[in-house]
Amino acid sequence: MDEVKVGIVGLGNVGSGTLAILAENADSIARKLGFRLKVTAVCSRSVHTKKLPEAFADVFRTTDWREVVAHPDVQIVAELVGGTGVASEIFDAAIAHRKSVVTANKELMAACGPEIWDRAIRAGINLAMEASVCGGIPIHAVLREGISGDRVTALYGILNGTCNYILTEMEKRHIPLQELIEESQRLGFAEADPSADIDGYDARSKLVLLAALAFGEKITPSDIFMEGIRRISPLDFQYARQLNHTIRLVCGARRLPDGLILFVRPALIPSSTILAGVQGAYNAVWVKGQYGEDTFYYGWGAGAHPTGVAVVSDLMRVAREIRSGSPERVSPFAHERLGDSPPVPVTLQKRAYYIRYRVEDRPGIIAKLAGILASKHISLEAVLQEPCTTKDDLPFVITVEPTSEQSIRDAVDEMAKLDFMREAPLALPMETAL
Ligand SMILES: NC(=O)c1ccc[n+]([C@@H]2O[C@H](COP(=O)([O-])OP(=O)(O)OC[C@H]3O[C@@H](n4cnc5c(N)ncnc54)[C@H](OP(=O)(O)O)[C@@H]3O)[C@@H](O)[C@H]2O)c1
Repeated sequence: MDEVKVGIVGLGNVGSGTLAILAENADSIARKLGFRLKVTAVCSRSVHTKKLPEAFADVFRTTDWREVVAHPDVQIVAELVGGTGVASEIFDAAIAHRKSVVTANKELMAACGPEIWDRAIRAGINLAMEASVCGGIPIHAVLREGISGDRVTALYGILNGTCNYILTEMEKRHIPLQELIEESQRLGFAEADPSADIDGYDARSKLVLLAALAFGEKITPSDIFMEGIRRISPLDFQYARQLNHTIRLVCGARRLPDGLILFVRPALIPSSTILAGVQGAYNAVWVKGQYGEDTFYYGWGAGAHPTGVAVVSDLMRVAREIRSGSPERVSPFAHERLGDSPPVPVTLQKRAYYIRYRVEDRPGIIAKLAGILASKHISLEAVLQEPCTTKDDLPFVITVEPTSEQSIRDAVDEMAKLDFMREAPLALPMETAL
């Protein structure tokens, strides 16, 4: 049986999962393809200390990725290093050597994907990036092929497993954020510096890619409003439950008449909605189309094996394309900003909002806050207060009827200056229309 030859750069979580699948599942992969995928070279900084699957005991090992890209036998390079430094050089070298590339790198693709893809097309090679978003969910294939005939009107995702684990555990066990961050680090879900997850950067890179694929727009990270989960506390879940809602880090892209609203932010979502059922480190993407209406995709967003499956499946697709002499012709990113749905500021959106306060108790507080809301033409809907004995740090919640994000921001800025506020009010949108 004939072969297509692969070089793997990066033998960490994803690289080792990919190698394990390529070794253990080799016969099944070959039966599906009609030819073998052969690992010819592997690279990592500490490659000589890595234990490789028995089947790859004799492959060429190096600490220098250039030797993999330039290796005369390697036809596809798997870039599984991550980041935007070395990974970007690997792409440059692969394009120069006319080698196809499979990557799991959301950060690089979000920052420079359209430009890299254009260069790859000009060089007549193939690229694939399924593993870069929602590791084990084949969402790129869905958006590029499965439902590409539809006109997507909205996409909502839970794209960061660490945040989802923290929020769902906070909901169940009433544990504060910092303790849950430490627990996630012990369990290996969160990095030593958890900022990329907790502050929303990781989810934002993923939304750049999904929104680009779903809407055929060029999206950059700065087009997306981003707010992390640092201010969410167990108390917010108590109030959310009273409203029959829960709280998730929601990644959203929604088509309005003026353009696309894009956000990564904690939001209240109805407890009855399918997104609220996404627990722990799972990911999910919910796509709404003008014709096909709702489709929902669910699975592991990370992990050596789920992400490894995405990498191996991409290697299979690219290998097939190489064998059939079919270089990439159409970028998954729009070639230019189409103008159909350019990103517009999130301040244009209208939503109901949940506003949580912590105040020093004294008479007249609600009247004062209601006055500020009225001055911005915002209608108060409900006031909620859990029983509480601490008069110097009293929490309560006001919900308001749908209003513009700009009005809520103006109101919250004014309220934050009041002398009875213990901290700036926390305003979260209520995504009731999911
Ligand atoms: N982890 C997941 O579940 C997951 C899910 C989806 C996507 N991704 C993406 O997959 C990519 C890899 O993530 P990961 O979690 O596997 O990372 P990781 O565990 O940190 O592995 C990175 C690998 O790259 C190697 N490396 C780093 N710099 C290198 C250099 N200059 N030359 C050669 N090798 C180098 C490291 O070598 P040493 O081991 O020798 O230090 C290591 O083997 C990232 O883009 C990430 O965003 C990860």
